Amino acid sequence: YTAELDMSDIEKGTYPHYMLKEIDEQPAVIRKIVQAYQNESGDLTIDGNIISAMGAADRIYIIAAGTSYHAGLVGKQFIEKMAKIPVEVHVASEFVYNMPLLSENPLFIFISQSGETADSRAVLVEVKELGYKALTITNVPGSTLSREADYTLLLHAGPEIAVASTKAYTAQLAVLSILANVTATSLGLSSTIDLGHELGIVANSMDGLIDAKEEMEAIAREYLSTTRNAFFIGRSLDFYVGLEGSLKLKEISYIQAEGFAGGELKHGTIALIEDGTPIIALATQEAVNLSIRGNVKEVVARGANPCIISMKGLETEEDRFVLPVVHELLAPLVSVIPLQLISYYAALHRDCDVDKPRNLAKSVTVE
Ligand code: AGP
Repeated sequence: YTAELDMSDIEKGTYPHYMLKEIDEQPAVIRKIVQAYQNESGDLTIDGNIISAMGAADRIYIIAAGTSYHAGLVGKQFIEKMAKIPVEVHVASEFVYNMPLLSENPLFIFISQSGETADSRAVLVEVKELGYKALTITNVPGSTLSREADYTLLLHAGPEIAVASTKAYTAQLAVLSILANVTATSLGLSSTIDLGHELGIVANSMDGLIDAKEEMEAIAREYLSTTRNAFFIGRSLDFYVGLEGSLKLKEISYIQAEGFAGGELKHGTIALIEDGTPIIALATQEAVNLSIRGNVKEVVARGANPCIISMKGLETEEDRFVLPVVHELLAPLVSVIPLQLISYYAALHRDCDVDKPRNLAKSVTVE
């Protein structure tokens, strides 16, 4: 594979920031991934060696850091729900010193936009020494994690230059969904979905969200322009997207933000709610819709200022923004976009350096 680098990929063009350009590129990236993984008959496919390794594993260990870790949490759901293989997701820097008891036939999946994250590499070195197979999912062909693993799946997202990861996250989710679905098909399971079609719907929905920038800017202004802190709540897949939303917000706007599972609020965090505390709640999952709305009521009763982002079909009148319908499992690919945009505008309103936030590097090459 040779990376074809188009200069337009690494220039900002008319965009004020790389982050905004990269947010906008997401629908095109999803379409590109579908194309890249399609065979001549239009079916999504993955290298047979990788699919055999998936099928042979009795447990999969996903290792990653930061945003890539958040993608791993969603990826676990894809693999367990579609391919029925148990998955553990670990933060790379913890795994190195605290290796869990491993199963008999593990397969390791490293998720890393850059393919250079030192914490993840330390685990890869260890795992290779133990003689286990490893797959790297990365945006950078020829990167260290790609070279040192047995297999690689590429993200095809084009260079990501802003420190805050956006298009790499949605690309990671798309590739993980393809990996899970193709594995499920090869195992003869009925839990597969018409993924090419569903990812097409995702890309079209993303187009609409990217056009909703004014609305996102208004939300950022209303909820986040002066606050010291903010909370993201959700249940199930929405919880994981909330973790990503809170990371995005804190890294570029320096607002102290935390993501929580809706049900955990009453176990401590609710003590932090004051008059006007912004709570961004996601409601895209039918099975937990009523419970997350119950959690919103609990925080509103304590004075919180709620911003509910729901999926069409699950919405109520109090919701601030309604996402177009996509397959429920793929909801994270669309629900993250408003969170990326809200963070972007919050950082702008607060005069922060969006593309190069303080104290952070694009790839963290020290442990
Ligand atoms: C995300 O916005 C961050 N900049 C950061 O958490 C990043 O995802 C993490 O450092 C992992 O990087 P990688 O995907 O290149 O391994």
